[in-house]
Parts: sequence; structure tokens; C-alpha cells
Amino acid sequence: MTQWNDKVALITGGSAGLGRAIAAVFATHGAKVVICGRDQARLDLTGEQLRRQGGRVLTVVANIQQQHDVDALVARTIESFGQIDVLVNNVGRSSRGKLLDVSVEDFRDALDINFLTAVRMTRAVAPYVLATRGHIVNIGSLGAKSAVRFMGAYPSSKFPLAGYSQQLRLELAPEGVHVLFVCPGPIARDDSETRYAQQAADLPESAKRPGGGVNVKAIPPDELARRIIRCCERRKPELVVPGKARLLFALAQLWPSLADRIILRSTRAK
Ligand SMILES: NC(=O)c1ccc[n+]([C@@H]2O[C@H](COP(=O)([O-])OP(=O)(O)OC[C@H]3O[C@@H](n4cnc5c(N)ncnc54)[C@H](OP(=O)(O)O)[C@@H]3O)[C@@H](O)[C@H]2O)c1
Repeated sequence: MTQWNDKVALITGGSAGLGRAIAAVFATHGAKVVICGRDQARLDLTGEQLRRQGGRVLTVVANIQQQHDVDALVARTIESFGQIDVLVNNVGRSSRGKLLDVSVEDFRDALDINFLTAVRMTRAVAPYVLATRGHIVNIGSLGAKSAVRFMGAYPSSKFPLAGYSQQLRLELAPEGVHVLFVCPGPIARDDSETRYAQQAADLPESAKRPGGGVNVKAIPPDELARRIIRCCERRKPELVVPGKARLLFALAQLWPSLADRIILRSTRAK
């Protein structure tokens, strides 16, 4: 029996990667879990895996870049489980590219997937999370607080999530809602060495590596998911992994040229 027993957690993009690990951790802590994704087969497979481990899981095919899919996803959740205690805005996509080569259209697309999906979901789920005095978890990145070179529109589209999370926290804390902003460095995955090979083909070696070449050890998704649920239990405002990255964030505010030099040195083409 945990505090999550019979609570309802809706995780966007819960069919793969970090989202799947977050869904699994909430399910094993007794929560009912809702996951969504666009690919039905992958979603069904993940749903089955979670159910085999004893999870109570609802899977909903949805593209949350579409408002009507967002509305249908929330309606299905309420129809099936009657409430929402946790919203995890996990959907997002990293990229590679020289900034001056990124088109306005690509910026618009990145902003939609990395920022507006969270805005759409939060607006739709807010009445339910306010009713349960629950949690909103926004998955950012180290790149939401500090840019590195050659990551295309990713930092520009994740930075807004930091401002959104802070303002949500300030406005919703008096209403009893906990808002957590998560800034992970690279997350361990099987394809991490090859994932950006094509996009980064003409870029320096550092751009092909996880996190754009930052000198940070990748965290396993299960471990990150466990840290996220602990932060919800303690109602923490932010989770930065690794924590020492906070020093760089602070330095960038106080002495930007020095922070830039450190970033350049640590991501130099190898
Ligand atoms: N991977 C890393 O190293 C890393 C590091 C720092 C931060 N992050 C952040 O962590 C989050 C998860 O990243 P990840 O690497 O675990 O992602 P991933 O493995 O690519 O999985 C993305 C998930 O989101 C779903 N999805 C994508 N677009 C969607 C849409 N429009 N509507 C509904 N579902 C959608 C995918 O399913 P379908 O494709 O079937 O839709 C899948 O379930 C992102 O916000 C990312 O920026 C990742």
C-alpha cells in the first residue's frame, strides 16, 4: 500500500523510452496508468507488458499535437477511471543541426512537440488535477536550461517549458497542485550512439553523441523514473540530473561568457 494506490497517472508518450519507465513505476506503486502514443502496435505491446507486471493500464492512441486527440484522451481517461491525479508531460523530441540551417517551419514543429503539447495537455487536464490537488510533471532536459551547439531547435523549444513550469508552479501552488520540472541529461537507451547519425552526418563528432556531446553519464530510464516519483512524493519543484549542472545554470546567469567557455570546452569536437 503506497500513497499512489488507486491514484490515476496520465503519461503522454508512455509507450517507449522514459515515458514507459515512468508508467511502469507509477503502476508498480499501485496507480492506475494511462499511456498514449501514435503507434498502436507499440502502445498495445507496452500496455500488455505493464499488465503482465500487474499494472492497471489504459492505452489510448492519440497524437497530442492535435487538440481533438487531446480532448478524446482526457475524456477516455475520465470515462474509465473517473479522476486524474498526475499528468506527466513527457512527449518531446531532440534533434541535431546547425542553428542557421534550421528553417522557421522546423522551429514551429519543434515548439509544437516540445512545448505546445505540454500546454495543450495541461489546459485539458487542469480541472481534474485541481480537483485532486495532484501533480503536473513536465519533462524538460538539461537543454531546457543551457544550450549546447548543433542541437537544432531543441534548446529553443525546451527553454519555454522552464518558464511555463515556473509560472504554473507559482499560480497553482496556492491551489494545492504540485508542479515538477525535470531536467535530465542523456537517458540511457539502446540506440543512443546511432540515433542522430543521419541528422548529424555533416556535423562535428560531438553532435552525434548523447546530449550533443556533454560530458555526462547517461542515466537509466528506470532510475530516473524512480527519482521522479520520489520528487512527487516530496513535492519538489525541480529535478536536475546530474545535480551539479545547477552550478553551470547559476554561472550562466552570473557570468555568461565563462559558462559558454566551459560548455565549448566540454563539447569540443573530438
Ligand atoms: N532520450 C534522452 O536522452 C533525453 C534526455 C533528456 C530529456 N529527454 C526528454 O524526455 C522525453 C522522452 O524522451 P524519450 O527519448 O524517452 O522519447 P522516445 O523514446 O522517442 O519516446 C517518445 C514517446 O512519445 C510518443 N510520442 C511522440 N510524439 C507523440 C505525439 N505527437 N503524440 C503522442 N505521443 C507521441 C512516442 O510514441 P509514438 O511515436 O508511437 O507516438 C513514444 O511513446 C522527451 O521530452 C525528451 O525531450 C530525453
